[in-house]
Amino acid sequence: MRTLAEYASLVEQRLPEYLPAAEEGGLILNHAMRYSLLAGGKRLRPSMVLAAVEMLEGDLEEAMPFACAVEMIHTYSLIHDDLPGMDNDTLRRGRPTNHMVFGEGQAILAGDGLLSLAFETMLAQGKKRPERAEAYLSAIAEIATGAGAGGMVAGQSLDLEYERNGSPADREDALFRVQRGKTACMFLYPLRAAGKLAEGTEETLRALEEYGRAFGMLFQATDDLLDVLGEAKEVGKTLGKDAQSGKLTCISVFGVEGTRALVREERARAEAALERFGKRAEFFLELVRKMENRVK
Ligand code: IPE
Ligand code: IPE
Ligand code: MG
Ligand code: MG
Ligand code: MG
Repeated sequence: MRTLAEYASLVEQRLPEYLPAAEEGGLILNHAMRYSLLAGGKRLRPSMVLAAVEMLEGDLEEAMPFACAVEMIHTYSLIHDDLPGMDNDTLRRGRPTNHMVFGEGQAILAGDGLLSLAFETMLAQGKKRPERAEAYLSAIAEIATGAGAGGMVAGQSLDLEYERNGSPADREDALFRVQRGKTACMFLYPLRAAGKLAEGTEETLRALEEYGRAFGMLFQATDDLLDVLGEAKEVGKTLGKDAQSGKLTCISVFGVEGTRALVREERARAEAALERFGKRAEFFLELVRKMENRVK
């Protein structure tokens, strides 16, 4: 079994090959895309795709373009999330945000470019192996659903709406809708995509989905905790922003201790979803512990 560091390093090695060269066409766009995509980051989502494919005895090499595509979509979502019209942040992955360096317009385009490149990358793999078209189309459809207007983008839209106009009276329900969309969808659908690549059964897909949802909720809860309790140097973002902008977060709904309890609850849910995989799920069990331990 490989560790997160090992998967992340594989992703790190392979990402540049899918990107246009910095100097190609003399485009500032290429610099802007590379700036954010090759800026480190935990590479959680692509690592989870690769680990799920290996857990199900699928082909790691074949899954690589799909894993890298998920990281491209995630990075685009971060570039746009940081824009002045969204969270207005100046620090990301320990460096100035994309729009601070390249300007707002170029940052929007860098995000657009990465989103399309993700689909180009997955489709190029399909051209290489046309006999695998069915599995690839299913995987691409899962990833598109998680990223789009029924998934991450919907969650981001609700997040902004509630920040601007206040949240509905049922704040717990509102919070979960936001976080399921903006965060959990970018775990659970890529995991389902991995399941499709490895020809998993319906039960397997459902288990991956349940784990992905619980992991995503736990992950966003720890992100919200870090905004209050973290060290900027370690997190690589400006902290304390959520309360300042009146965001609907786990902290504003449950408080710090309530959020810690929520993390434990989601951990139990994530562990239960993994039971059917037995010892093969060690990577995913360990990942939950790692995420929980991000918060001191
Ligand atoms: C940040 O995601 C966005 C959230 C869903 C909280 P990550 O914390 O995975 O960001 P990177 O990829 O490591 O920078
Ligand atoms: C962002 O949530 C989720 C996405 C980018 C889709 P946050 O706004 O909490 O993420 P950070 O804290 O800026 O990384
Ligand atoms: Mg945000
Ligand atoms: Mg943000
Ligand atoms: Mg946050």
